[in-house]
Amino acid sequence: MSITVTQLHPLFVGEIGNIDLRQPLDPDTTAALSAAINQHGVLVFHDQPIDDAQQQAFSRNFGELETTVRAYRADFVPRLDIHMADISNLDENNRVLPPNDRRRLNALGNRLWHSDSSFKRVPARFSLLSARTIPNEGGETQFADMRAAWDALPDKMKARVEGMICEHTQLFSRARIGFTDWAPEERAKMAPVPQLLVRTHPGSGRKSLYLSSHAGRIQGMEEPEARMLLLDLNEFATQPQFVYTHTWRVGDLVMWDNRCTMHRAREYDESQVRDMHRTTVSDGKPTVAADRAA
Ligand code: OGA
Ligand code: MN
Repeated sequence: MSITVTQLHPLFVGEIGNIDLRQPLDPDTTAALSAAINQHGVLVFHDQPIDDAQQQAFSRNFGELETTVRAYRADFVPRLDIHMADISNLDENNRVLPPNDRRRLNALGNRLWHSDSSFKRVPARFSLLSARTIPNEGGETQFADMRAAWDALPDKMKARVEGMICEHTQLFSRARIGFTDWAPEERAKMAPVPQLLVRTHPGSGRKSLYLSSHAGRIQGMEEPEARMLLLDLNEFATQPQFVYTHTWRVGDLVMWDNRCTMHRAREYDESQVRDMHRTTVSDGKPTVAADRAA
């Protein structure tokens, strides 16, 4: 039996039915899912009670997995495997992080609109987020369609921004929320990386804005001017007509294409547990052509 695809938003987002993510995929199903993510940018799967090994196996159908950046602080004890991003409010003993915990404050940055790993020279292609435990309200994830935002930009703006190269680092995104508590060895690992501002999405051939909270400079432009342009573009691209809000159920898995969408987390009562596990498929190459050749 083949998968079903139901579009959940006028512009993007497909809900996939008739699949069990715990089972190996046959080539036809892999091809159908690839076509669906290429078209819809975000895929929603309900009722998928998977473990980390099953999530990794499913994710590897779409490319190589990223490993999480964890060597920043010698005293950091990870809760999950190196191929899993820990998107939770828990410590290594599964206890809720206290409000002033540095890991929690850093993770608040996920509530800014972003594209995963845009601070890496080779950024993320797909992210797959599995809901293991959720709070009883709030904690939604929102997605914005960057191909639709590009299509809707005035021609003059399209001509202006095409070819621009931004610089991305987590230092920029965290500074936006006043998080600056980095050790010198951490800062040293966070040098800005170049990313195209406008990309052609390989799976659809459509152009897309490549925005992220990590972007803080544009090459060849004064910083305040670059910041204002990025703020304006972000405001434009996250207007309600471009946004889908996902309200989580335990067992949901949402897969998104970071090349043509942005996302952000929403607030919830952090005395409750929210435990989400993410796998991330690398895009395999830098976005800037000169960088790719180097
Ligand atoms: C992520 C992320 C948002 C959320 O997993 O990359 O940004 O709602 N998550 O937890
Ligand atoms: Mn993210």
